[in-house]
Amino acid sequence: MKEKIEGLKKQLNDLKIESEEQLESFRLKYLSKKGLIQSLFEDFKNVPKEDKPDVGQMVNVLKNQAYEMYNSLKSEIARKEDKGTNDIDLTRPVEFSHFGARHPISLVRKEIIDIFNRIGFIISEGPEVEDDFHVFTALNFPEEHPARDMQDTFFIEKDPDIALRTHTSSVQARVMESQNPPIRTISPGRVFRNEAISARAHCIFHQVEGLYVDKNVSFSDLKQTLLYFAKEMFGEETKIRLRPSYFPFTEPSAEMDVSCNICGGKGCNVCKYTGWLEILGCGMVDPNVLKNCGIDSEKYTGFAFGMGVERIAMLKYQVKDLRLFFENDKRFLDQFRGAY
Ligand code: DAH
Repeated sequence: MKEKIEGLKKQLNDLKIESEEQLESFRLKYLSKKGLIQSLFEDFKNVPKEDKPDVGQMVNVLKNQAYEMYNSLKSEIARKEDKGTNDIDLTRPVEFSHFGARHPISLVRKEIIDIFNRIGFIISEGPEVEDDFHVFTALNFPEEHPARDMQDTFFIEKDPDIALRTHTSSVQARVMESQNPPIRTISPGRVFRNEAISARAHCIFHQVEGLYVDKNVSFSDLKQTLLYFAKEMFGEETKIRLRPSYFPFTEPSAEMDVSCNICGGKGCNVCKYTGWLEILGCGMVDPNVLKNCGIDSEKYTGFAFGMGVERIAMLKYQVKDLRLFFENDKRFLDQFRGAY
């Protein structure tokens, strides 16, 4: 019996097990109910009484050794077959993960805000779902006036009219209603118009509205402020020009062009060979608007302006199709990586 045990022990020590199949035949041969180790326990019954303590111990030692072998071989084989998760190579260089980049609209929006912050304009915000009063009536769009057709509106509710705001000028009305002059504020936000989507138009876009109300605010203050903005945004050599225009809420009203930052004013296909690019609408706040919002129009004057963020981003980054800003094509967005 002792020789048999020693023999089995030697067999175990000599075994070479490298695969799951080999391990399974090892288990069947030695550890199963009909296996060799179990058979030792059968033989044990016939061992003379005086040898039982010695032989019993030997059998138990062998059995434990076989089980230990089995368990450690099992985890070793599993580890080998499952390289990806367990085979960690601590010397491998780090793989850099790609962080997201800021969206170009966010970049330009932030740049506009920073420029005006530097000269004392603070941010105010208003709701995207607005009532008729703040979008139109307070801003001097008379009932049934064709000016209301200037912007195709998404209505949420009729009577009383609730709509998605068509411009951030609605925030002007809210600020003037709730604050006393001096007021110097900019209002960035999303606006909505019922327009067909094309390379030049979208039904959702972003604007930044500006408003300055105080005693003795004049058109030259407006011009100087916008010249400062244009130079900060497009470069020191940038020129501006103001063309007469019409908005119900400003009198006089103007549209501002900047000298084309691509050809420097010489004329190219971006500025359609005019040397100028239109970037915003502006004017002196109409006294009716001041009155509608509870501000004494005898005592105070103000200027206002409004610009489209997409328009400025298109000019700044020479993007020819507005839809690119909304499609989230990674190849497009990746180009703004690192531009802060
Ligand atoms: N609200 C105008 C628009 O959406 C832009 C605008 C023009 C805003 C003149 C102004 C302004 O404050 O004075 O087209």
